[in-house]
Amino acid sequence: MIQTLEEHITVKRPIADCFAYLRDFATIEQWDPAVLRARKLSPGSAEIGSEYQLVLKLPSGQSTVMLYTQIDIDEQRQLVLRGVGRNFSALDTLNFKALDPYTTEIHYCAELHLDWLPSPFAWFISPLLKRIGKNAICGLQNALEIPAAPAALGFKDAIADRLILPAALNFGRRGYLTQARKSHSTRADGKVIAITGPTAGLGLSAACELARLGASLILIGRDKARLDQAAKTIQDFSGCTSNALHIYNTDLSKLKNTATTAKQISANYPRIDVLINNAGALFAERQITEEGIERSLALNFLAPLLLTKALSPSFTQHSRVVNVVSGGLYLQGLALDDLQYCKPPFDGSKAYARAKRALLTMSQHSEGQLANIHTMHPGWAATPGVAKSLPAFNKAMHRYLRDSRMGADTMVWLATAPEVEHAPSGQLWFDRRIHTDAVLPNTTSSAQDRQKLRDWSEQILSKLMF
Ligand SMILES: NC(=O)c1ccc[n+]([C@@H]2O[C@H](COP(=O)([O-])OP(=O)(O)OC[C@H]3O[C@@H](n4cnc5c(N)ncnc54)[C@H](OP(=O)(O)O)[C@@H]3O)[C@@H](O)[C@H]2O)c1
Repeated sequence: MIQTLEEHITVKRPIADCFAYLRDFATIEQWDPAVLRARKLSPGSAEIGSEYQLVLKLPSGQSTVMLYTQIDIDEQRQLVLRGVGRNFSALDTLNFKALDPYTTEIHYCAELHLDWLPSPFAWFISPLLKRIGKNAICGLQNALEIPAAPAALGFKDAIADRLILPAALNFGRRGYLTQARKSHSTRADGKVIAITGPTAGLGLSAACELARLGASLILIGRDKARLDQAAKTIQDFSGCTSNALHIYNTDLSKLKNTATTAKQISANYPRIDVLINNAGALFAERQITEEGIERSLALNFLAPLLLTKALSPSFTQHSRVVNVVSGGLYLQGLALDDLQYCKPPFDGSKAYARAKRALLTMSQHSEGQLANIHTMHPGWAATPGVAKSLPAFNKAMHRYLRDSRMGADTMVWLATAPEVEHAPSGQLWFDRRIHTDAVLPNTTSSAQDRQKLRDWSEQILSKLMF
């Protein structure tokens, strides 16, 4: 049996944006609800001959794999792909037409060959396939259209936040999968984005997506070999050239070195559009750095503050800073009487959560900063960091954890989405929406507490930065 599905949409986006988004067919995982995962198998930019692996959700609840090959690319006019699965094949054609400089019509045609199904059964399967096609094209329209403002938190979610546990259930992959928008369709060509911790986990995923969107990336890590390997992964994923990637090597828990590197970066890049303070870690043991600072506090709190300050000469009024914290901060307050965790027994999870709480608090009180500061937590994602620092949690929860791309989603969105431009600074974001940041009584802080924290951190940083 052969079934042809045809749909068309009109979107308020220039044709170049629409074509660039769809040229890499792997973005289908961001807009087609029937696609669980899509991966470009061929390294480099999407070209004729590029291959993709798609994992499709079947109506039965099971999944199946299809291999797609890009068989034609007619710049800003047409994309053609052939897909082969176990029991069927498909020929997908996307045609693009500019209706005016800001509006594009996209015509989508899928010719499905279900060789095993005799034609008399068409009446049964046709409506189902048509519905799948309609869902896909509606998803594409949603992915390309830019909302006027970020989605607000619904009443049910606000209640869930207050009760902590129901909200925490969404920290796993379920939360990401139920998110209404998953697309990253805003180009970042010409943007300069600095990101820490791009060698693994969430930072690597975010860097891959940002490079695919066309940004120039400043990759800040602590190991030259791992940075080089990350640059190769980013190039293979996105097709960007090596000129778009700039490597800086520094251990972020060594604050003096970090200050020197940051000054070099700022001197080399008079304009930085986004700084993503992603690097972070949870340490089981208390350790003091050679500068006399507890390691978790140095890496998770002071390094992001220092980088933000040292790179600020390169910020414009449209620059954004994205600070990555953790849902663990819901359980901890500032602990101003023992910021360096001198009182035993040391608890690594608490030290980490307190440092993240401190970073959020400083982000909320960033008067005088040029850039807009947004703080996000990624939920629970399976990354090398989680496997190392929380092995039992990682093992028990593995099936429910997000993958790195899911955990990095809000990071990339905060860095690039136009609808974030007028969003208030200093909020806590999770899955592209602003969430409550303190629920338990001992986790809120007074103006006096915040001033104390600011004075303490400024005193330390002023000694290390100059
Ligand atoms: N994954 C989660 O579920 C989760 C949940 C809540 C919050 N977070 C936060 O999300 C961020 C990313 O976490 P992840 O899970 O992706 O962690 P990850 O897999 O361990 O990756 C962390 C990245 O930070 C870098 N890094 C660590 N210490 C550094 C240092 N001293 N100097 C320079 N770079 C350093 C690592 O570099 P190397 O490759 O050299 O080690 C790596 O690139 C962190 O801030 C973390 O706290 C993650």
